[in-house]
Amino acid sequence: MKTYNIAVIAGDGIGPEVIDEGIKVLKKVAELDGGFAFDFTYFPWGCEYYTQTGRMMAEDGIEQLKKFDAIYLGAVGFPGVPDHISLWDLLLIIRKSFDQYVNIRPVTLLDGAHCPLQNVERKDIDMLFIRENTEGEYSGAGDWLFKGQEHEVVLQNGVFSRKGTERIIRYAFETAKKQGRSLTSISKANALNYSMVFWDQVFEEVSADYPEVKTASYLVDAAAMLMITDPKRFEVVVTSNLFGDILTDVGAAIAGGIGLAAGANINPEGTFPSMFEPVHGSAPDIAGRGIGNPLATIWSASQMLDHFGYEAYGKKVVDAIEQLLVEDEVLTPDMKGSASTSEVGDRIADIIGNLQ
Ligand code: NAI
Ligand code: MG
Repeated sequence: MKTYNIAVIAGDGIGPEVIDEGIKVLKKVAELDGGFAFDFTYFPWGCEYYTQTGRMMAEDGIEQLKKFDAIYLGAVGFPGVPDHISLWDLLLIIRKSFDQYVNIRPVTLLDGAHCPLQNVERKDIDMLFIRENTEGEYSGAGDWLFKGQEHEVVLQNGVFSRKGTERIIRYAFETAKKQGRSLTSISKANALNYSMVFWDQVFEEVSADYPEVKTASYLVDAAAMLMITDPKRFEVVVTSNLFGDILTDVGAAIAGGIGLAAGANINPEGTFPSMFEPVHGSAPDIAGRGIGNPLATIWSASQMLDHFGYEAYGKKVVDAIEQLLVEDEVLTPDMKGSASTSEVGDRIADIIGNLQ
């Protein structure tokens, strides 16, 4: 029997609480199929580990993770550890070391999910964001000169390599072609007169190889507005690291809230493990109370199933989330319910068991 070895970094705050439910769902799917299994190995890395050891992960952490088929991550970050340390020394290191250059974030309004927009039909919000995930504005290149002095200077550089820009845009075209949908590029060439002029040029060049894919191109500020006023314009979307980070939070807001937003960090070549995680953070304000919404983490488990080639099960998991939302009975407090994290996980597992 095929066994998938999954590295679990549950992390901080509600991370471990929501990850438990995602694992419950993955185990349920494997049990239903009977032809494959998951083996989970837990790594105690995160902010507590940092306060004990001075590191967010083991020194050879990347080496340890390399041999796994995928990484399943809760969230990292907790008051007491500066956020740029918790983010950079764990999450961003993994994304970069494992060349997870594609960040896939679905923005799909399921039946039963709350949408704050008026005059919008459910089917109008069905986007797939493909965000560049290893360079761009989050390259980490820069300097802090004359720190603390009156004439201090801070540089934070955007890095857009030909290889990095071309491969993310090509990946997006391939996805749009496969799905038979349009592709929208979001950039900002009027103000970012090097990086985004280059981005637009590469988009133009690559589009020549995909005459069948309908394309559009927007400036990021206009795109933020149009996502609210006319979301149906957007189908598959490709954008840079920073813009994708911000716009997918807009996406989360219009597609049911942060409790539903999932993301996959993909190394398409399969040279390294890919990583699956909810978009939200460790929610320290509600941590430890067993009320964190596990649906985003469960949705990211469906992305893991897709990644392993079990698209039918991936769809089943999303269908189960939709049914749970429509039933409107077993929901956590952020969705105006009174259920616990584990009750939601249990119900999803039940629904999956009953879905045809
Ligand atoms: P957050 O996403 O943790 O929380 C924002 C708000 O949404 C809070 O009121 C929280 O209670 C609520 N919320 C988030 N997820 C929820 C869920 N699943 N169920 C119910 N309510 C939920 O973002 P915040 O407060 O900006 O960051 C908290 C910590 O998380 C920081 O240390 C930050 O750096 C870290 N963080 C980590 C991320 C990651 O590991 N991928 C992503 C974003 C933030
Ligand atoms: Mg973000």
